[in-house]
Amino acid sequence: MDHGQKTMKILLTGGAGYVGSACLRWLLAHGHDPIAYDDLSEGNRAAVPEAADRLIEGDIADTGRLAEVLGRHRVEAVMHFAALASVPDSIKDPEAYYRVNVSGTKSVLDAMRAAGVRKILFSSTAATYGFHGKMPLSEDSPQTPETPYGTTKLAAEWLIKDYARAYGLGYTLLRYFNAAGADPDGDFGEDRRHESHLIPLIFLAALGRRPEVLICGQDYPTRDGTCVRDYIHTADLAQAHQLAVETLEPGVGRAYNLGSGTGATVLEVLRACEEATGRAIPHRVVGRRPGDPAVLVASSEAIARELGWSPRHSQIREIVRTAWEWHRRHPTGYGARPEPG
Ligand SMILES: NC(=O)c1ccc[n+]([C@@H]2O[C@H](COP(=O)([O-])OP(=O)(O)OC[C@H]3O[C@@H](n4cnc5c(N)ncnc54)[C@H](O)[C@@H]3O)[C@@H](O)[C@H]2O)c1
Repeated sequence: MDHGQKTMKILLTGGAGYVGSACLRWLLAHGHDPIAYDDLSEGNRAAVPEAADRLIEGDIADTGRLAEVLGRHRVEAVMHFAALASVPDSIKDPEAYYRVNVSGTKSVLDAMRAAGVRKILFSSTAATYGFHGKMPLSEDSPQTPETPYGTTKLAAEWLIKDYARAYGLGYTLLRYFNAAGADPDGDFGEDRRHESHLIPLIFLAALGRRPEVLICGQDYPTRDGTCVRDYIHTADLAQAHQLAVETLEPGVGRAYNLGSGTGATVLEVLRACEEATGRAIPHRVVGRRPGDPAVLVASSEAIARELGWSPRHSQIREIVRTAWEWHRRHPTGYGARPEPG
């Protein structure tokens, strides 16, 4: 926290999830007073320090309960992470994605209105951009999403903008690229009930919890034929949330991309994981997955220029090293006791 910055009471929907809990721990370590509101459908109680005081179990669809919690805790700002976030699942079951990502966001905004909370940060995504935009993507690249995950997150952006204009909210839309990595001490990391993210899937295969890694498509127009993604460490995401919340005022509206500005292919990530583990990791190339563009890379110049943010932990080696430390020490996730040292 900068000198002179006062402690803020911040509620994080989805604050027991992977990115939300990393932000909560960061805010706590930087002098703020965060609480998580999470239904634990994917998140973990053990990811929230001081969970008895800092984790409230609840569904974002329950507007009345959320408004009561916001009022009782005198919350000044909301960080809205809670969402369904798998591209393939969204194609199979759009109903759930509209319900949680769109109606759920409306419920969060209605609860904020009822409780008089006037600042919101929203976890948006690279998936709100079109597949064929010029790389790197900037904030004014065309937003023409091609999957229900992307359309529902973009609809949530629109809801926030319309509410902000009418009801005087301040908002910041933070469009993450691929969140990755684990806390440097190896105590907290990525552990969902339904895993669909590349790096945890690779380490689950390295640990024998999955038979192999499926590489979806090796015929993309990229340097080795596999998809290029921009990986950003959760510590860098967390710092961006801190800077954004400390500078947000009612009536202000901003959108920022959060990425490292460089991309890695699926095979490059796999090789980096093999290097970190010292093991060959079983993998197999299968057909392309619907909804996967060839390349997604961010320009984060706007937040660098306006808030002085720059990624410090997002080299792929550091991401993979911290993620492996977490998986190695917690081979069955938060349910397991850490292995020594
Ligand atoms: N992980 C990424 O690479 C990435 C990239 C871009 C954007 N995002 C966005 O960041 C946010 C967090 O993603 P994540 O990777 O941490 O996902 P996650 O699944 O680990 O976390 C989401 C959390 O929301 C909770 N949740 C879901 N539905 C809820 C409901 N109805 N009520 C209350 N809580 C509910 C889950 O229990 C979970 O703890 C999401 O909004 C996602 O769209 C993530």
